[in-house]
Amino acid sequence: MDIHLVDGYSELSDIAAGIVTELVNSKNNAVLGLATGSTPVGMYRKLVETYQQGSVDFSQVITFNLDEYYGLSREHPGSYYYYMYRHFFDHVNISPENINIPEFRDGDITAACRQYDGKIETVGGIDLQVLGIGVNGHIGFNEPDRFLKVHTHLVTLAKKTIEVNSRFFASPEEMPGQAVTMGLGPIMHARKILLLASGSSKAKAVFDMVNGKISTKMPASLLQLHRDVTILADREAASMLEEGSFHISQG
Ligand code: GLP
Repeated sequence: MDIHLVDGYSELSDIAAGIVTELVNSKNNAVLGLATGSTPVGMYRKLVETYQQGSVDFSQVITFNLDEYYGLSREHPGSYYYYMYRHFFDHVNISPENINIPEFRDGDITAACRQYDGKIETVGGIDLQVLGIGVNGHIGFNEPDRFLKVHTHLVTLAKKTIEVNSRFFASPEEMPGQAVTMGLGPIMHARKILLLASGSSKAKAVFDMVNGKISTKMPASLLQLHRDVTILADREAASMLEEGSFHISQG
């Protein structure tokens, strides 16, 4: 794991956007795995700016979002569909047919999940997977569990996740208790992983991810097994890491 300590949220966002831009500029049909949550908002803002300056072209890029709440409409401001268009897709030249979000509602969810994984495989897997981290160590919505969930699946959200994420809804009751998430298979098969962590609420999860026992009870700890993980963390998120275990970003 390559851990970079950044100077603050703005630097974290700029560096993250720089990594995505560099990849897309070297491979115009790159496959991006995309995350939501408050942490990557600044990265998307910077990517939009970079696009507006003419320094990146998303026309051939293919995206797969990590997760989506189960049972929310696209128009609901809490949905990740809404989030992705608002923060990114509406402002860049990405082709709508290249956008994939696991927003399955009716019908056979298991079949839809299988198709999602199949599509990721068909395009050759994910080149760069962007991740945030939950305070309980979840990645996507892969919650702490006794078993490894390899494939995209419907998940019952952990109490902690509902507690933390209900801030994105008008009331906690409005927040769905289930979500569809990419499993750990496609995430771990991504050629490169970029994980963003900001704020003191993430310090324990970041410590356990980097130094803890590898366990499905701490999903992010599985990333220790991946050969190309870059972690961008601000001082608060990295506060429990030992000095010397990370690089200090040069800006
Ligand atoms: C949600 C998402 C995750 C994200 C996490 C952290 O639960 N499903 O993909 O990493 O929140 O969110 P935030 O960046 O808002 O702390």
